[in-house]
Amino acid sequence: MNPKVLITRKIFQEALDLLEGRVDYEIGVLEGDLPQRTLLEKVADKQGILSLLVDTIDRDVIDAAPELKIIANCAVGYDNIDIDHARKKGVLVTNTPGVLTDTTADLTWALILAVARRIPQADVFTRAKKYKGWELDLYLGMEVTGKRLGIIGMGRIGKAVALRAQAFRMDVVYNDPHRLAEEEEAQYRASLLPLEDLLHTSDIVTIHTSLTPETTHLISAERLNRMKKNAVLVNVARGPIVDERALAEALEKKNIWAAGLDVYEREPEIEERLLSLENVVLLPHIGSATFETRIRMAVMAAENLLHGLSGNPPPNLVP
Ligand code: DGY
Repeated sequence: MNPKVLITRKIFQEALDLLEGRVDYEIGVLEGDLPQRTLLEKVADKQGILSLLVDTIDRDVIDAAPELKIIANCAVGYDNIDIDHARKKGVLVTNTPGVLTDTTADLTWALILAVARRIPQADVFTRAKKYKGWELDLYLGMEVTGKRLGIIGMGRIGKAVALRAQAFRMDVVYNDPHRLAEEEEAQYRASLLPLEDLLHTSDIVTIHTSLTPETTHLISAERLNRMKKNAVLVNVARGPIVDERALAEALEKKNIWAAGLDVYEREPEIEERLLSLENVVLLPHIGSATFETRIRMAVMAAENLLHGLSGNPPPNLVP
């Protein structure tokens, strides 16, 4: 008999093809919301769950599935899963690292440039037929080349962002609990700085750390106040790392110049004040959203799931 699997939401056919005939899968919901109550019911007889980052796989869900062997999350982040409880129950948890690194670094740069050069605002202006001819001071933005880039979290994505910064001849500084080896610092042309110094001296600060109790509200009102008045803050990691209300206030008061966000503290809700601000660019969590990458992520999650169900150690077990 094939193991029973819950795929919480719609995923790509390439991943379903891989699972076909090897597991009996049920898809939680094809469109819209998957209420927690339904999730609890559907996991009851399952040995595997293929989840997305919007699914809350908490202790109740894990307890509701007594035969559960593996939770294969289709995301590199896994803050939606109660890892400690899964470990306690002997349930494996996997993620999808590596395949989205370049895609997310590209989006980070798209956001940095969009914010610095005010691209979305200028696009709206042009579409509204407000362009009446070239002006010396029309949509002036911030020069990126040669500026200091502060990277918070120097993992795979942080490093990929640093590599791209070389094309802009930037002075790259980073903050991370683990210092890079000397050769890596040379390769990424990046030097370690304490967080407070990074915030105080960087022109652009970009966040690439994972969400943990220690990084929740890492960027607090107090730390926003330490940033340069003409600085840009970009977050493509997880929303709760930044105190969103404090950020709205800092942007309103022009304590920092601008921000670019792909993630939010209470997704899909967004702090109301941000929606009406001119100096912020808002995206709907699309860091890894290319056709190629999202398919790779789904296939990788399916592969992890099959490994876990067959009793082989899956390649992408979370630490
Ligand atoms: C992830 O995989 O954690 C990303 O947030 C998806 O874009």
